[in-house]
Amino acid sequence: MRISTGIEKLDEITGGGFPSNSSILVKGPPGTGKTTICQQFLYSGLQKSEKGYYITSDASPEDVMEKMSSFSWDIGPFIRSRKLLFLDIYSWRTGGAEEKVWKHVLQGGLNIDSLNLSLSDLLDKLANSQNKRGVFDSLSSLLLYVSTDMVIKFIPILIAKARKRGATELLVLEEGVHDPQTVNTLNFLTDGLIETKMEEGGKFLRVLRMRGTSCKGGWVEYDLTDKGVIFK
Ligand SMILES: Nc1ncnc2c1ncn2[C@@H]1O[C@H](COP(=O)(O)OP(=O)(O)OP(=O)(O)O)[C@@H](O)[C@H]1O
Ligand SMILES: [Mg+2]
Repeated sequence: MRISTGIEKLDEITGGGFPSNSSILVKGPPGTGKTTICQQFLYSGLQKSEKGYYITSDASPEDVMEKMSSFSWDIGPFIRSRKLLFLDIYSWRTGGAEEKVWKHVLQGGLNIDSLNLSLSDLLDKLANSQNKRGVFDSLSSLLLYVSTDMVIKFIPILIAKARKRGATELLVLEEGVHDPQTVNTLNFLTDGLIETKMEEGGKFLRVLRMRGTSCKGGWVEYDLTDKGVIFK
């Protein structure tokens, strides 16, 4: 089964969307639209009554909410109806944040054991729904605070948990800040790879690899507008 990406052209390139229960790496330099692609994917699922989770390590859930509303993606109703849950692994940096029904907050620092426990808890809360979508933005911040070895061992667990619970998830990775071996390993562990780049002011995307898909390769140019990702 295919999960529509929420972006028409990306559905076309991938032959109808991401394979269900897959974990896809979204890799590219800063400012190329990785976060926006993920948010558009998540929001389009919520609109179709799917549930979602958002693991955020680069911004607080409130910041994410604000950024999404700048694209007219109002996630407030989905938060209130518990269709979207957050795992905040950002706010510990600024002294923590209050736990709410819609957000788990990792307190006191980032460690894989508590992240793993919170993740299970989060996914269990979303158990009674068929399709779910997840975003992890970004693995790069995780790699800043936890040893590469620990992260590499955690990723297959993250992916297996998502797959078991029927979730299709996007994992963001910043380009140019990790050693090639780490990138290769993450590439090997995941089901697909979307790359973004910026060239002469234009933004481009390509799908390099996707489980069970013969991708129509090549870079395609897109814009970020107030409606999200729009292909040229
Ligand atoms: N509401 C909006 N409408 C149009 N463009 C926007 C809007 N909000 C942000 N942008 C543009 O989107 C780009 C950033 O996109 P995004 O945050 O998705 O990139 P990213 O690859 O996740 O970046 P980073 O690596 O820094 O997290 C910037 O170029 C910014 O100008
Ligand atoms: Mg980002």
